[in-house]
Amino acid sequence: MPATSTASEAVNGIAFRSDLEGIKTEHLTGYFVDWPDPPSQKRHLDILAASHGFEIAIDEETGQVVGFINLITDGIMAAYIPLLEVLPKYQGRGVGGVLIDRLLARYQDLYMIDLCCDENVVPVYESRGFKRFICMARRNFDRQSAAAVEPQQHIRSKDITIRPPEPGCEEAVEIILRSLPEWFGIEESLAEYVEQAKTMPTLLAMEGDRAVGFLMISRHFPESAEVHCVGVLPTHHRKGIGRLMHMAAEEHLIADGARFLQVKTLSPEKGDEYYLRTLAFYQAMGFAPLEVFPTLWQPHNPCLLLVKSLS
Ligand SMILES: CC(C)(COP(=O)(O)OP(=O)(O)OC[C@H]1O[C@@H](n2cnc3c(N)ncnc32)[C@H](O)[C@@H]1OP(=O)(O)O)[C@@H](O)C(=O)NCCC(=O)NCCS
Repeated sequence: MPATSTASEAVNGIAFRSDLEGIKTEHLTGYFVDWPDPPSQKRHLDILAASHGFEIAIDEETGQVVGFINLITDGIMAAYIPLLEVLPKYQGRGVGGVLIDRLLARYQDLYMIDLCCDENVVPVYESRGFKRFICMARRNFDRQSAAAVEPQQHIRSKDITIRPPEPGCEEAVEIILRSLPEWFGIEESLAEYVEQAKTMPTLLAMEGDRAVGFLMISRHFPESAEVHCVGVLPTHHRKGIGRLMHMAAEEHLIADGARFLQVKTLSPEKGDEYYLRTLAFYQAMGFAPLEVFPTLWQPHNPCLLLVKSLS
């Protein structure tokens, strides 16, 4: 489904983006106006990160997120837009319309996109082809803040649970690495990862009793950490499992005092189609390229170092 991010654009000092790079909870103030028990700013960020798609509007002067929209979907036929909000001060400037247009452009191949909205927003949607339908909705008002729900209950792979980082995951790591020969085809380095998984804290993504993904974390300093290696069974790619492990790893690292996260991967100048996918994943997780080290590994495998700050 063509749900890839649209490029960023700027209109009248407002920038529009479909990623969360550099967005922290403090950039999300003032939302859920008039909600009696609104989600926290942290929960708001979780909601965006766990949505299949979202768009944000940023005041280029202050860096504040001044509007957002999000979408959830089965990825095949149907989608629902749960939330659209523009901060009161920025209303009446077309921000909501741009958010809607950018999001719809990414999901135009779907059969149905539904939403519920207030009467005053009806014309905005009608001008984009939406029609009034009869809709039924149920609300659990004592759950409005979404405080008691773990984010992973809502991701696309609903049967996946994440085990906290622990050593002794070598068996699962080996099975997954061996299922990914396009990335881990060199026996010697595969064996090294397996050996390291005996002692290195490793998160596992579990589908029932079976590990379908892993993420190994190394700590060089208390303030920082590295995604040492990550893998998901090929049958389970692009179902949100990598994202889920990443979110859990970040949560764990932040609680443990880490402020920066790094990851090393094959530099895109190699043009390796598989590692270009890996890079797309890291970029979607908010990493930014920092430097290429041409000879850190072998001269024919230039290493790209990516970093992100943890908030
Ligand atoms: C990299 C890897 C761990 C990602 O796990 P995953 O569960 O497939 O990734 P997710 O479904 O959570 O993807 C999260 C986001 O990353 C981006 N992404 C992931 N795979 C992508 C791809 N092939 N092309 C473009 N973007 C991609 C997307 O933005 C995606 O969000 P979306 O699906 O809502 O658009 C997995 O693909 C993998 O095991 N790859 C092989 C091993 C590897 O590359 N390891 C790292 C080298 S050490």
